[in-house]
Amino acid sequence: MSDERDSQINAYWESYTTTSMNDTYVATLETEMLARYIHPDDRILDLGCGDGTGSLGYRKICPHYAGLDRSLKMLKVFSEREPGLPLARCDLRFLPISPHQALPFTVVITQRSLINLPDSESQEAVLRQLPAFLRPGGRLLLCEAFRDGAENINALRTQFGYKAIPARWHNVHLERALTERVLAGEMDLAAEEDLSMYFFLTRVVKQLINGDVALGWDDPFNKMAFELARSPHSPRFKGYSHISLQVWVKR
Ligand SMILES: C[S@@+](CC[C@H](N)C(=O)[O-])C[C@H]1O[C@@H](n2cnc3c(N)ncnc32)[C@H](O)[C@@H]1O
Repeated sequence: MSDERDSQINAYWESYTTTSMNDTYVATLETEMLARYIHPDDRILDLGCGDGTGSLGYRKICPHYAGLDRSLKMLKVFSEREPGLPLARCDLRFLPISPHQALPFTVVITQRSLINLPDSESQEAVLRQLPAFLRPGGRLLLCEAFRDGAENINALRTQFGYKAIPARWHNVHLERALTERVLAGEMDLAAEEDLSMYFFLTRVVKQLINGDVALGWDDPFNKMAFELARSPHSPRFKGYSHISLQVWVKR
């Protein structure tokens, strides 16, 4: 079952019509969130780099970047857009390193890539390898979808008579308890941020005002939510967003 599901996920990411992220507001908010934890002299390894959409913003401040992805199609689009970048094909479950190798990276990023592994066992196995990629003081930036944030938004939606939004068929949302159990022995959770303002507005308030409209991203309401989410004057609250960034620092 897991193998069959994995080949379906693989076919999805190899398809001509698939892109890393359609919602450019979310992609921009993610990249701005990641950029807050990246310095110009960092050396970044992006695991599951896709077609490069999610890294566009932070690569402007830090050019030392390498990406790995399993999908030939996504890598092809990325390398055609930006020739010369060090990109390589690799399944995250078979990372080509030994824990004793000296690695040059100060930052490792997963941006909605672990959620594309077929089950939580694979997520755990990949997470276990990640601290070995970093020197002491290095940062692991997990920008993934987490189950609890999705549940909080869905509790609000269902209270007001709107359907819960399920995880997409090819995604397994991460459990917060899993990242803590696997990483806390070697790393400290230094910061957490999410996109609560954007998702609270577009997944709950938008429906309360307009009725059960489609979730589509490209409309004036979403633009307003995007502007509010990135304003430094907006209130900050957490927990109402499936997408969260966990910043883990290696001891
Ligand atoms: C949602 S996209 C995100 C891409 C990029 N991180 C971004 O934010 O623009 C997920 C990516 O994970 C890749 N992926 C899925 N399973 C993978 C695996 N087992 N090993 C490596 N990459 C994988 C897909 O090919 C896809 O490019």
